[in-house]
Amino acid sequence: MKNLPQYIDWFRHSSSYINAHRKKVFVVLLPGEAIAHENFNNIVHDITLLQSLGVKLVLVHGARPQINAALEAAGIESTYHKGLRITDAISLQIIKQIVGALSIDIEALFSMGLANSPMHGADIKLARGNFITARPLGVLDGIDHALTGVVRKINAKAIMQHLNHNNIVLVSNLGLSTTGEVFNLSPEEVATETAIALNAEKLILFIPQTGIMDSAGEMVSALSPASAQDVLATVESQPENKASGVAQALAAAVKACRHHVHRSHLISFEHNGALIEELFTRDGCGTLVSKDTFEQLRRASIDDVGGILELITPLEEAGVLVHRSRELLEAEIDFFFVIERESMIIACAALYPLDATCGEIACIAIHRDYQANGRGEHLLSALEDQARRIGLSHVIVLTTQTTHWFMEKGFQPIAVSELPEKKQKMYNYQRNSKALKKALR
Ligand SMILES: CC(C)(COP(=O)(O)OP(=O)(O)OC[C@H]1O[C@@H](n2cnc3c(N)ncnc32)[C@H](O)[C@@H]1OP(=O)(O)O)[C@@H](O)C(=O)NCCC(=O)NCCS
Repeated sequence: MKNLPQYIDWFRHSSSYINAHRKKVFVVLLPGEAIAHENFNNIVHDITLLQSLGVKLVLVHGARPQINAALEAAGIESTYHKGLRITDAISLQIIKQIVGALSIDIEALFSMGLANSPMHGADIKLARGNFITARPLGVLDGIDHALTGVVRKINAKAIMQHLNHNNIVLVSNLGLSTTGEVFNLSPEEVATETAIALNAEKLILFIPQTGIMDSAGEMVSALSPASAQDVLATVESQPENKASGVAQALAAAVKACRHHVHRSHLISFEHNGALIEELFTRDGCGTLVSKDTFEQLRRASIDDVGGILELITPLEEAGVLVHRSRELLEAEIDFFFVIERESMIIACAALYPLDATCGEIACIAIHRDYQANGRGEHLLSALEDQARRIGLSHVIVLTTQTTHWFMEKGFQPIAVSELPEKKQKMYNYQRNSKALKKALR
């Protein structure tokens, strides 16, 4: 293999993403345009890969272009109100046939297992059922929307049962009412409501472009729900974005994030590997809408131990940091702060109070992909603030390779004999670390 070292390097670095995504619920919107695209087989393979890595997946498929073509072939002209199709009884008969056939086609794709294909040995089980209860949209602006419906309830318990049995759940844009009627729904709405009902980690929306473009035509890689709402106004003002589903997908992402779905991703269904690139690389390839700030500096919790170990183990092996066992880290986790980015711990540092006046800064580490961007300084100043809050007047640090970095941050070298007594007793002369001290104003 030509790029073997890069491939191995990438695969090793993806382990933190694999750990972050395992057992999480992702809801994926597959619009009809994506299903019709030649790249759809690759999307199916990538979804299969996610499933085999322990991600719990709900797929929501649409069928807009397929329905349009079938209605046109039957000589039925749809009427729309504010971009929504008004579904009459004859149209619904055709829509049921089209959506039913698409669901079966998708099921068939996930059942493939040819020996020379990426699906070999995957043994994917797909579950379908009456998970979506709908009700009529009713009369809007004096116009009866007939069999066009809205989501009334998602049977989250039943979906979770299937997910917990390692099934992928497949849902369509058709919902059933308590009176036994079938309603035509918007797939974006079904995906959003499903993600909200399941308290999903991610809502992934496939769209026909690389991501959301700003007014200058540049792709925006990350948006808060508030800024996404602003961008939405511009996106919705362009009719082609409504026709392609981009506006509906962005609106869905904003709503999901406002209702505690952690992250929504808009990615291209035309780009081979977009799903993998978005979920397993540092910067992704589409647009992320996230209710959290993109990166968060916070106190560590016991759930962060795995992520911290992954971050510090290579530095321990290189002799930069002193070895800490998992047990020790668990016992000392309350002294740690971390920076989290996209569910991944990318930086950590600890403050150990040594006596009534002095604390030790230790185990400061920034993931190598994120160094030299001010995060080290940011973490250090958070630790210094914490030291002040608990009444310490100075902090010390022992370091073998980072003396100058600490000196640039106001630390002064001191002799080992000037360290607090407790620290002097534990000083490892073989390691021969330099001792530095900083007074806190
Ligand atoms: C040292 C470390 C914490 C700094 O964090 P960071 O987020 O990369 O640093 P900042 O962005 O705040 O500062 C970057 C500057 O520090 C410099 N720097 C980085 N490591 C340094 C080191 N070991 N010695 C001196 N300067 C260093 C960079 O060259 C850069 O300088 P520049 O702005 O002039 O280009 C980080 O590089 C790291 O995790 N290193 C490996 C672990 C380690 O050494 N920990 C300390 C154990 S005591």
